[in-house]
Amino acid sequence: MTTDRLSITVHTQADDERLSAVDDIVRGFTSEPKTLDPKFLYHGEGSELFDEITRLEEYYPTRVERSLLERHGAEIVQSVQPYDIVELGPGNSAKSGLLIGPALAAGTLRRYIPFDISEEALREGGVSLMAAYPELREIAAVVGDFWRHLREVPPTEGTRLAALLGSTIGNLHPDEQCDFLWEIREGMLGPGDAFLVGADLVKETSVIEAAYNDAKGVTAQFNLNSLRAVNDLLGLDIDTGLFRHRAFFNTEHSRIEMHLEALADVSFTLSPSGVTVDIRAGETIWTESSYKFTKEAFEGTLAAAGFANVEWYTDPDDMFALALARV
Ligand code: SAH
Ligand code: AVI
Repeated sequence: MTTDRLSITVHTQADDERLSAVDDIVRGFTSEPKTLDPKFLYHGEGSELFDEITRLEEYYPTRVERSLLERHGAEIVQSVQPYDIVELGPGNSAKSGLLIGPALAAGTLRRYIPFDISEEALREGGVSLMAAYPELREIAAVVGDFWRHLREVPPTEGTRLAALLGSTIGNLHPDEQCDFLWEIREGMLGPGDAFLVGADLVKETSVIEAAYNDAKGVTAQFNLNSLRAVNDLLGLDIDTGLFRHRAFFNTEHSRIEMHLEALADVSFTLSPSGVTVDIRAGETIWTESSYKFTKEAFEGTLAAAGFANVEWYTDPDDMFALALARV
């Protein structure tokens, strides 16, 4: 889709992309423990469910990161003076105006490049940003998978600010975090460019666990949505009522683990492979990890990925942090 100022380029609809999603599902269901890639949480209604999560009382990360961007966004873009902003995993770009607005006011920003697996979320965000910022010349949205399509992000013609907000980095396992940060630095940033990343910090377990077990059950629906994605992509009819949401903090690994626990024995056959999956009552499918960081550990990960000169922005209660790293 293209209008004068908004283009959406989709890299996930080719047959081989559909097959690769099917491969990911088969690999997860045949591994021990059974897993599902967290990207399936955002399939179909998933992006809207996540958006609802961000407005929940219990889900502090969005609220606190937003307040950090309100307080420091202008200072951050003043120091970077970006010609373009690439945002990885922005969803519907609900927080992006807190960088775009000040960057337009600084007079440097020409282009915003949101990159996400959810086309619907990018479209919704693109349309509302165009209306909110008529002076923004171009929104070049890219629909792709973090692991296969980062190179489709167009090169910059000036200074670039790349952003990965919301602690989305925490949904990757530690070795993947480092690989992903390395690819971002190598593939889309050069000397003088900057990288802004949000990281959820370690805190009292009860506060973290409440954020993933909300009273309204929205997170449970979000979790169950990954099974709906499997049904949709593989033409199956797995009864989501046979599973319940579980989320708990694993202290040893400093991560929330989100699982779907089978309430009865469940069996289904994956096509086209013909592999039969047997899930026993009480067994779980691990659908997401959400790592919680200390500033020291996260600075180590950034350094291992080649990012130096990190500036930190945190709230008074050290709930959440933004790190601005230079290449
Ligand atoms: N940055 C936003 C949204 C975070 S939710 C915020 O802070 O609120 C995580 C986002 O990453 C979602 O929009 C989801 O669609 C996207 N995402 C998850 N896995 C992805 C993948 N493998 N490739 C591309 N985008 C992905
Ligand atoms: C996007 N990501 C950082 C969210 C998180 O907190 O890990 C996804 C989420 N999962 C359950 N609730 C929100």
